[in-house]
Amino acid sequence: MLYLDRNENLYGPAPKCYEALKQVGVEELSVYSREYSRGVKSKLSERLAAEFGIPEPQILLSEGSEDMLKQAVHCYLGPGEKALCPAQSWWYYQRIASEVGGETVTYAIREGRDAYGYDVDEIISLYQKESPRVVLIASPNNPTGNSFADEDLSKLTEAFRESIVVLDEAYWGFADMSNERVARLVGRYRNLAVLRTFSKLYALAGARVAFTAVGTGLSRLTKFAARYLGYNRISESLALAALDSREYYLDVSRKLQQDRELYYRFFATCKGFRCYKSDANFVLVKIPPHLKSPLQQYLNDEQIALKFFSEPEFHSFIRITLGTEEQNHRVLNAFSYFLSLGHSMGGAA
Ligand SMILES: Cc1ncc(COP(=O)(O)O)c(C=O)c1O
Repeated sequence: MLYLDRNENLYGPAPKCYEALKQVGVEELSVYSREYSRGVKSKLSERLAAEFGIPEPQILLSEGSEDMLKQAVHCYLGPGEKALCPAQSWWYYQRIASEVGGETVTYAIREGRDAYGYDVDEIISLYQKESPRVVLIASPNNPTGNSFADEDLSKLTEAFRESIVVLDEAYWGFADMSNERVARLVGRYRNLAVLRTFSKLYALAGARVAFTAVGTGLSRLTKFAARYLGYNRISESLALAALDSREYYLDVSRKLQQDRELYYRFFATCKGFRCYKSDANFVLVKIPPHLKSPLQQYLNDEQIALKFFSEPEFHSFIRITLGTEEQNHRVLNAFSYFLSLGHSMGGAA
């Protein structure tokens, strides 16, 4: 089965990561890292601090960004308090607040002709009406693939000064690999946490390692997230090797950007389909509703797993994770063949 339903990076991690794994010895397996005695959390947080130009205490580590999303919300949200998050997003966003007796309020992401987009003024007026304790924003968002422009992000964070703001950048790096805005944002907004993960671009989802840059106002989260005996040393070695492999990941990012274009062009020629512009390693595609079940059946027979949604809003949508060039061609060939069987807008074949 070709799994293109989970937004993993099927190019796999950089060669240096495999070399790092081969070198794992007793130090990594049996010994706590003891970096606390040097006054830093770990070698990884130290390296990230230097790379981002942010003081090390403001870099937090976690087991994936899922873990940090949970920690941030659990740390700040009390029973009955509100978390504001996008309506069309990773399903887990809408679960976290309920884990601590909180309430979720959602803002819509608007469907445009060829891309989804945020309505910043609408989000701000909802914010003013609801006064949420925590706000989640995603850039790029899953599954719509749209991002915030820098000026919109500044406008929002400016408006959200009374809350804890969590910016999830799990899908960073598939549109561009610049890092400069993280230090600028957390330097300016004391209440902001910017989440990044090694799961997506760096293809280390199985290593469960992520980091968060926080503003100086989030000292409660900094304490909450501290792990005094250190972190997973094998995952850290993998993450450090990934950071040493910028050229490899630039190449992966370029290939995925080219293949996104391939998907846009392909679906533009398919009547009744619409593929939305994405800054991530997946594309969202609207399909003719009557084709949903024959398509699902056909792809299953072809051993290709794509994401078919259960949410009513996305009933006639699929999300396709981009794989390697070869895998993407396999998917597009499968669609061509399926459509050549006589499946058209007219009715189910
Ligand atoms: C928007 C978003 N954020 C965060 C995550 C969690 O990723 P991880 O915990 O592997 O860092 C996912 C997983 O798919 C996601 O879609």
